[in-house]
Order: sequence, then C-alpha cells, then structure tokens
Amino acid sequence: MKIFPQIQSGQALVIGGNRGIGLGFVQHLLNHEQFDQIFATYRTESSSTELLHLAQQHPKRLHCITMDLTDEAQIAHGLSQLQAVTPQLHLVINCVGFLHGGAITPEKALRQLNPEHLIRYFQVNSISAALLAKHLQPLLNHKQPNIFATISAKIGSIEDNHLGGWYGYRASKAALNMFLKTAAIEYSRRSPHTAIVMLHPGTTATRLSKPFQRNVPERKLFPVEKTVGLLMDVLSHITLDDNGSFFSWDGSPLPW
Ligand SMILES: NC(=O)c1ccc[n+]([C@@H]2O[C@H](COP(=O)([O-])OP(=O)(O)OC[C@H]3O[C@@H](n4cnc5c(N)ncnc54)[C@H](OP(=O)(O)O)[C@@H]3O)[C@@H](O)[C@H]2O)c1
Repeated sequence: MKIFPQIQSGQALVIGGNRGIGLGFVQHLLNHEQFDQIFATYRTESSSTELLHLAQQHPKRLHCITMDLTDEAQIAHGLSQLQAVTPQLHLVINCVGFLHGGAITPEKALRQLNPEHLIRYFQVNSISAALLAKHLQPLLNHKQPNIFATISAKIGSIEDNHLGGWYGYRASKAALNMFLKTAAIEYSRRSPHTAIVMLHPGTTATRLSKPFQRNVPERKLFPVEKTVGLLMDVLSHITLDDNGSFFSWDGSPLPW
C-alpha cells in the first residue's frame, strides 16, 4: 500500500533545507496541507536567509534547527530539539551533499587524488547519512508508515559508471547507498513501518551543479521546482516494499 495517502497531519523534516533542492522541498511542503509541521536544518544563518525568512512567515508550521552533519553531537542535539516538539516523523528528506568548495574540485585523474579531500567527501556525503539513520530511528519507529529519503546521485551507481572521473564524489555516493541499503535491512526489523529510499534528482540548477552546467543541454538541466515536483511524485508512490531501493527522478529503479 502506498505510504503517502496514509499520512495525514504529518510531521516532515528536510535536512539541508536552506538552499538548492532542500529549500525547494521546504517551499513545496509549506504549500501543501499534508504536513502540519515542517522542520528544516541549516548550518549558518548567513547562508540561510531565505529559509529563516520563510520561518518568520510561517512561525507555527516551520521550525529551523542548526545542524552540521559532520558533527555527530550536532545531529543528536538537533534531533533532541525536534523531539521536544514532536515524538514522531512521517517524512524525512535528506538533501545534504558536497561536490566542490574551497580547494576541493572533482578529480579528473588519479594524480589529483588527495586523501583529505576524499575524507571530506565521505564525511559529508556518506557518513552523515549513516549517522542520521542511527539518530532518526526513535523518531521513525512508530506505528504509522513513514519515509526516510536521501538524495543520492546516479553517479554513485557502480554498474552505471561508464565515464570515470569524480572519484571522491562518486565513491562517497556509492558508500552512501551501501550505508542506507544496510540500514534499510536493520530498519525492516527494528522500525518496520519505515521505507528508506535513495533518490537521483537529475541534473538540477543549484550551487552544486553550477560550475558543470555548461555542457548540459537546457532540457536536461532541471529548475529546482521541477526536480522537487518529480521527486515528490516518486515519493507519493513509495510502499514499504520499496525499503532499501534507489530510484531516479522518473520513478525508474537504478542499478547499484
Ligand atoms: N544539483 C544536481 O545536479 C545534483 C545531481 C545529483 C545529485 N545531487 C544531490 O542532491 C543533493 C542536494 O544538492 P543541491 O544540488 O541542492 O546542492 P546545494 O544547493 O549545494 O545544497 C547542498 C546542501 O548540503 C548542505 N551541506 C553541505 N555540507 C554540509 C554539512 N557538513 N552539514 C550540513 N549540511 C551541509 C548545504 O548547506 P550549506 O548551505 O550550509 O553549505 C546545502 O543545504 C546533494 O546530495 C547532491 O549531491 C544534486
């Protein structure tokens, strides 16, 4: 049975809700009645003005929480703040991800590999999601069906890797998928009403893709609103049998 139609007056959490696809999800959820309360995480006020402005406009529905996902103590503290408001969540969408920034750019060749950069990719893109799965369990382990979705990337598919390059980002997304596939198996025993899914958003016009948009045909570069609409449609079809699956923006399953 589809999970979405069973959620009424639900509580949703968007992780990395301050920009890009995450901010798009926050805006979408605010415009729809299905979720009474929406929680959104961000790291710094200076990079979250739009989100914080939305929270001022919707003080009863939107609650913002600070959380750097590379710090487990911040994850635990942020979720305990959330738990003080609600004991359960029905939808979690984790939109945190890192491709470039500071001295880090995706590697085109082995000679560009830098262990510190690789660790950063794994901290932000992989380990963070495993820690979220660890700390979210008490909020998802209830009797109503619920979804924990994480934005992964098709580039993390080992089978689909025909181009090479982007070692750190690619491998960290593959590790993300393995962490969450494994967590899905544990959740099926300990939190059997949760479906954990990984989603590929398609190339979307955000800060993350900006330096790489030049060679993307216009029709293949989705505005955030389009990506969010497509992914909400995928989520609306999820059943508990989909626990541990990896889907593309059009709902088709992706190979590992
Ligand atoms: N855009 C695309 O074409 C595309 C394609 C495939 C997959 N994806 C995936 O889609 C997801 C969303 O990306 P986006 O395109 O919306 O990129 P974005 O606009 O750069 O957003 C990335 C989000 O991750 C947050 N973040 C980064 N490091 C963090 C940390 N240590 N702790 C907490 N939050 C952190 C950012 O917060 P700050 O603002 O504080 O940095 C921001 O909210 C990512 O997982 C990305 O890999 C995107």
